[in-house]
Amino acid sequence: MSGITRRELLALGAALPGFGGVARAHAIASPPRVAPLRPPRSEPDWEALRHQFVIEGVHLNTGTYGACPIPVLEATIHHLRAFERITRQEHPDLPALHAALERFLGAWPGSVAIVRNTTEAMNIVANGITLAPGDEVLTTTHEHIGGRCCWELLAARRGVVLRTFDPPLDPADEDDLVAAWVRQITPRTRVLSISHVLFTTGMIQPVARLVRLARERGIISVIDGAHPPGMLALDLQAIDADYYASSPHKWLLAPKGTGLLVTRPDRLATTWPLIASGDWEADDGRRFEHAGTGNESLVAGLAAAVAFQEALGREVIEARARGLATALHEALVRVPGVHVVSPRSSRFRSAMVAFTREGTTAEALQRHLGRAGFRTRRIAEFGLEYLRLSTHLYVLPRDLERAVALVADAPR
Ligand SMILES: Cc1ncc(COP(=O)(O)O)c(C=O)c1O
Repeated sequence: MSGITRRELLALGAALPGFGGVARAHAIASPPRVAPLRPPRSEPDWEALRHQFVIEGVHLNTGTYGACPIPVLEATIHHLRAFERITRQEHPDLPALHAALERFLGAWPGSVAIVRNTTEAMNIVANGITLAPGDEVLTTTHEHIGGRCCWELLAARRGVVLRTFDPPLDPADEDDLVAAWVRQITPRTRVLSISHVLFTTGMIQPVARLVRLARERGIISVIDGAHPPGMLALDLQAIDADYYASSPHKWLLAPKGTGLLVTRPDRLATTWPLIASGDWEADDGRRFEHAGTGNESLVAGLAAAVAFQEALGREVIEARARGLATALHEALVRVPGVHVVSPRSSRFRSAMVAFTREGTTAEALQRHLGRAGFRTRRIAEFGLEYLRLSTHLYVLPRDLERAVALVADAPR
């Protein structure tokens, strides 16, 4: 070996997370062993599960990105290293992964495309359907850039009209929320672009009902579902949207740079791919998936993420994540000066809680919690000033007690 000593090589390995075995690079033939998982049943089980993650501090921002569990990291890193053997490369089993995703999401066979994120999936849809100047896309004033800008581009470029309205943030019941959408529909409405869970407050929208009313009027339904997979136990066939876009790097705890587009089978053949490559004429989700050489290691990690959550149980995860959010919500409303902006009715509440506190800003609160090792999200979009806390399965009740105490004690 010229120019680099064995000691330097080992030091390099130690400095590069995931590549600690550079000096043992020839010994990567067998895939990583994954500890058997079972659904947690008690608080000690949840405490033990926390050891499946490399999180430092307390992660209350899964709404931006989740933390990959160790088996997902290992599967990703294993693939990345094995691939570079060149002559004995390994490829993720894509048909098996599609089938696993369809099972996990309750999606139609052949309907799932693995893309890079929600933003890409939403752009595929916006550019893949045919809209004429004057056609209207209806959405709320609480949309994330990842679900909104694709329509803004169509408005700027093609004369499509993007109409937005303020959704009720604390609806009395589903009828209240559905009626708010119906009031905005005009004879020119061609698309409802609906966040399944609003990124601002975590409010769950009754997407199945909204999809139904759209279809009755010949309107296309596009769901920005960045959050639900891995947070809510989904049945996408029951929701029945024309398009459902998501980011499994959030609640599904997959590597960053993995996304999903689920297309209702009857729309596949008439939706143009955004990027055309070998499979562009396929009559299943692959028509959106084949976009040149990509990072297969992330796809290997996605497969491990689905396996991880299936082992724990989708319903178990939803109950835990939403249960923690409910406990957090109830504790926060008791703190003097705190105003929780997430809905009061539990049917609309997801696993994200947003709030303000009198006498301070979300920015200052975020700094205060940050100094104590808490990762949070400040919602500063649209002139809002909320602090948003996400409660996924690696958050423990004692973490939330500390978070609430920090909010209560934050300097005014
Ligand atoms: C509702 C919503 N839509 C879209 C996105 C964009 O996700 P991505 O950056 O993974 O495309 C986010 C990200 O936070 C989101 O909250």
